[in-house]
Amino acid sequence: MTPSLATPPSSQRIALRGDLLDFTSMPEWGAVDSKAVRFRPDHWLLIDAGCIVAAQPGDQVPDDSWAKHDHRGRLILPGFIDSHVHSPQLDVIASYGTELLDWLNTYTFPAERRYADPAQAQDGATRFLDALLAHGTTSAVVFPTVHKVSVDALFAAAQARGMRLVAGKVLMDRNAPDGLRDDVDHAARDCVDLIDRWHGKGRLAYAVTVRFAPTSTPDQLAMAGRLCSAYPGVYMQTHLAENRDEVRWVHELFPDARSYLDVYDRAGLLNTRSVFAHGIWLDDDDRKALRDARAQVAHSPSSNLFLGSGLFDWKAAEAAGVAVSMATDVGGGTSLSMLRTLGDAYKVQAMAGQRLTAWKALHASTLGAAAALGLASEIGSLTAGCAADVCVWDWAVGPVAQRRMDVARGLHERVFAWMTLADERNLVAAFVAGARRYERDAR
Ligand code: GUN
Ligand code: ZN
Repeated sequence: MTPSLATPPSSQRIALRGDLLDFTSMPEWGAVDSKAVRFRPDHWLLIDAGCIVAAQPGDQVPDDSWAKHDHRGRLILPGFIDSHVHSPQLDVIASYGTELLDWLNTYTFPAERRYADPAQAQDGATRFLDALLAHGTTSAVVFPTVHKVSVDALFAAAQARGMRLVAGKVLMDRNAPDGLRDDVDHAARDCVDLIDRWHGKGRLAYAVTVRFAPTSTPDQLAMAGRLCSAYPGVYMQTHLAENRDEVRWVHELFPDARSYLDVYDRAGLLNTRSVFAHGIWLDDDDRKALRDARAQVAHSPSSNLFLGSGLFDWKAAEAAGVAVSMATDVGGGTSLSMLRTLGDAYKVQAMAGQRLTAWKALHASTLGAAAALGLASEIGSLTAGCAADVCVWDWAVGPVAQRRMDVARGLHERVFAWMTLADERNLVAAFVAGARRYERDAR
């Protein structure tokens, strides 16, 4: 598919040379040798009018019609996809001493109130998207705030950068402070306006954004469900079963629901375009319902560790056939780096005696996330026809990582050590639809 782009892509023909790494299918759990991995060492990646058109071995040098960027000895991956992150929460990242519900009241809600101001919303949106790009993330599913201006600012900034972005106005009509609550009718009007203005414009898509069950009345949840059926192309994003006190609260607020997930299901919010952040405290029936709906869980290990929320059982999700994507959940998460997040994901699984391969982790933050969003023909891989959302990485920064690379034997060993030791300092350049949007050494 040729992506339609609001910002014209680079008209230049570009050829990037390096070690190309991506996936052609989902790697199996625990397999360090996997046919799903496509590693093409020393290849040229050819990009024309913002799209990937071909790849060819390094010794087949493209002709002079191609602007050549020689990154020999570097790694080239599809841009990362962060499936759950909060744009206004750069202001509260790394806040001390609380679990989820206190953290929201103490830090997060006060910070989000500032986004009622259009100037703050605009500043925050550009800072956030530029930071994503500087961490190697070219697409994201984002929570701005309850304020319509925060959504406009975020979509406008994403459009200016040509980014594939999913976002929507946060819905909250109870259990939130003054300045952060809406009401059902007003919120519905805002959502319809925003869908008309942004959904399907270039690379932007709207998500009906329920913050979480405790901050929406049953009437508001039902309204959100009606929006999902009235606009079948929109996404739905929310939080699910993150923290034990939160889960208890949901049972008190919705005593008739079988489970936390059932609250959303009854409201018509469980479908193939639903992105549920966390999903730690689920049972087998919940996992089956997620699988049957082909919904996804946005696993957020950094946030889960930082807020003491719990350890996500990825193996159980996998066994049940639930799609799992990777997310930073900044500001609960402590970094926008998907690589740091994948390192945390490995450690979370290790606590449960499980081993997360580099393939599984990298797939879930590229092609796996794209497939779960129904966007695999556009993002998440280095396949001809996809948008050229591509990042160039150093294999090693500094002597410790360099030594580790020097002694690594097989491909998995090397890539796993890279995934674990690398971070945003390894990022050399980020391209969005073939336009260079981040360059480390630019001064
Ligand atoms: N649950 C409801 N709101 C939030 C939020 O902003 N961050 C996280 N991690 N969980 C939530
Ligand atoms: Zn979140």
